[in-house]
Amino acid sequence: MTRRALCCALALVACSAAGQGYPTRPVTLVNPFAAGGPVDAVARIMSAPMSQALGQPVLVDYTVGAAGTIGVGRVARAAPDGYTLSIGHWATHVINAAIYPLQYDVLRDLEPVGMICANPLLIVARDSFPAKNLSELIAWLKANPDKASVGTAGVGSGSHMGGVYFQSATGTKVQYIPYKGTGPAMQDLLAGRIDFMVDQASNSLPQVRAGKIKAFAVSAKSRLSAAPEIPTVDEAGLPGLYVSVWFGIWAPKGTPRDVVAKLNAAMVSALADPAVRQRLSDLGQEITPRDQQTPEALAAFHKAEAEKWWPLVKAAGIKPE
Ligand code: MLT
Repeated sequence: MTRRALCCALALVACSAAGQGYPTRPVTLVNPFAAGGPVDAVARIMSAPMSQALGQPVLVDYTVGAAGTIGVGRVARAAPDGYTLSIGHWATHVINAAIYPLQYDVLRDLEPVGMICANPLLIVARDSFPAKNLSELIAWLKANPDKASVGTAGVGSGSHMGGVYFQSATGTKVQYIPYKGTGPAMQDLLAGRIDFMVDQASNSLPQVRAGKIKAFAVSAKSRLSAAPEIPTVDEAGLPGLYVSVWFGIWAPKGTPRDVVAKLNAAMVSALADPAVRQRLSDLGQEITPRDQQTPEALAAFHKAEAEKWWPLVKAAGIKPE
């Protein structure tokens, strides 16, 4: 055996030895946004059943700021041992890379674990806002350029991209108010301190159901089964404004393959749990089909999404604040 072959064989043995005992201590799932928002909801729903499957606590931790780039960067630089994981979505793991000068590469510095679910955006307004439907909202914004305040989780977040897409489709101008996540932005919408949001269904639906905010449209081809009363953008007058915010889990690049396999198995078993499925569905989240829950499927989808969105976002010239 050559020296190089021996080194490779020893590295493989070390990797599988690392995976065999794994995990021996708590696993940290880094939410890059503030508590109470969409990523937090998915992380919290997944953490208990994943803890059970792994035999160690899966703890949700917060490293927030700059539309999620600080938290994702923390995981990209973490030890590749399976104890520090990134949970995030379309915006944190695709869009941000076309806007921010990142110190990490979202495709090369992270190891996909699996895709969890996806939810569309809802166009929602404070309860006291004068508009009763989407056409009235657009008419109001046209008559009052730059007057409406729109809550976002920062430039490049899902809510900000939804707002940018909405503005360009309607030819309106609004003022963005950035928060550390749409959890705190929702608190200000409820209090009437901001006017509207283009927010993930999972964050807005509980408030819509409670009658505390108004929902004008869902950014999807079909209505949500969790909220069939909300019209689609096609029905409400903004045809084709479709956005799907999909969620995944990643580990730092170089995490041993059998550790990734254990994490993926824990994610898959959590998603098979009827209680987990119910909680996600109630929030308007569509669970990733079983055959798409693999690390390979997330890797392929992540790459395809980057190829699709990066040229569009770069062409739009969106700049970090
Ligand atoms: C959050 O968890 O606060 C959101 O996912 C933010 C967003 O991207 O709009």
